[in-house]
Amino acid sequence: MENEVFKYYTEGEWKVSSSGNSVQVINPSTRKTQYKVQACSKEEVNKVIESARMAHKAWAKTPLWKRAELLHKAAVILKNHKKPIADCLVKEIAKPTKDALTEVLRSADLVSYCAEEGVRLLGKGDFLVSDSFPGNDRTKYCFTSKIPLGVVLAIPPFNYPVNLAVSKIAPALIAGNSLVLKPPTQGAVAALHMVHCFHLAGFPKGLISCVTGKGSEIGDFLTTHPGINCISFTGGDTGIAISKKAGMIPLQMELGGKDACIILEDADLDLAASSIVKGGFSYSGQRCTAVKLVLVIESVADALVKKVNEKLQKLTVGPPEDDCDITPVVTESSSNFIEALVMDARQKGATFCQEYRRDGNLIWPLLLDNVRSDMRIAWEEPFGPVLPVIRIKSIEEGIRHCNASNFGLQGCVFTKDINRAILISDAMEIGTVQINSAPARGPDHFPFQGLKDSGIGSQGITNSINMMTKVKSTVINLPTPSFSMG
Ligand code: G3H
Repeated sequence: MENEVFKYYTEGEWKVSSSGNSVQVINPSTRKTQYKVQACSKEEVNKVIESARMAHKAWAKTPLWKRAELLHKAAVILKNHKKPIADCLVKEIAKPTKDALTEVLRSADLVSYCAEEGVRLLGKGDFLVSDSFPGNDRTKYCFTSKIPLGVVLAIPPFNYPVNLAVSKIAPALIAGNSLVLKPPTQGAVAALHMVHCFHLAGFPKGLISCVTGKGSEIGDFLTTHPGINCISFTGGDTGIAISKKAGMIPLQMELGGKDACIILEDADLDLAASSIVKGGFSYSGQRCTAVKLVLVIESVADALVKKVNEKLQKLTVGPPEDDCDITPVVTESSSNFIEALVMDARQKGATFCQEYRRDGNLIWPLLLDNVRSDMRIAWEEPFGPVLPVIRIKSIEEGIRHCNASNFGLQGCVFTKDINRAILISDAMEIGTVQINSAPARGPDHFPFQGLKDSGIGSQGITNSINMMTKVKSTVINLPTPSFSMG
């Protein structure tokens, strides 16, 4: 078992790479090699994409109800495999056991919902008549349907290697596309196990493939491959580089955020404090939708900070196997990056509400008060359990800070005045504003999108299905009638 190298998946089979090389998956808690996966070569990637192209042709003609049936089957199998997949998530990305199980169950529900939504959405088209446009008689009937794009490349991130993989796989498949998955290295084995569930469901050979390997070796090759017709990527800056190189194909990109939480003087501070702690510290802050900055009106800042600190004290810190709230962050380089942001804030005079503490990749939860905009942590995304607080004098100051960010994913506002909340929402240049709750992507059928460097396109089940299809029109040109129209 120790020397086992997990195989990659193509043409309905599990294969060993001819490269003879492997990639190590490091356990964030032990910082030792947990698993090894195949380091696929470019030739293997070529073959995978070729078989995906072939499989797509037959699949596009497979009745919609049959595609849905197989997805429902995969969802049931995924639920039955929740335990072993969750175990991998615990070991590969240090996700607490309970959250790991939730990720798998949420993914199965997403697959089922997607099958149902696809049947409804793709089962109908538009019908247009020509005389609604000036200068035309009723001589043309146009009907539209949605057709698949071809081969979709799915690249999910380490923090949801299962859920953010199926959120790309299921819409692609229901829409009649084939799918090539390149999982993150941390989370690759959980993703391979999830692919095994689709394998057991009996999808045609070549329709789904999963290639593993180093991004530096096969990443560009995959994302610029002429056989790829669409890329759905979730992750960091790499997405910007992919977008610049990808060519004329539809892109769905979700690239992180600096989600701000604006607290007004009339906010329910207990609700705000628990949302900040849940939103900022669940999965140790490693969520693109985590609260990454608190912008609080000065008059209530002391009270809010006190409440947040009381709640932070209750968080448990330790291994994911014990279901601790705060677990080791994913890699040593992530821990070092977080530490650098914290040290920059210390040097520039931020108030540390707790002592900064780190053991390996484990970082204790930390609230940084009196952060100013000359500190890196005011703008950069730590992706860890450290949260800056900026005290603001006015709503305008909060909105200005929020809109000056390169990111534009989500944000939230806490107030009892719904009219003010809506006006603030309109003023925030971000993809989603939550009123009186922390940012979140789910439920998974809600639209999910980022502005500016946070992304391209909109996700959520319905939007993803639409994005992975093209509209096709057929126009019936009517002849001049040979009989009297009455
Ligand atoms: O990390 C990015 C995820 O899309 C966040 O999803 O809000 O469901 O945790 P979540």
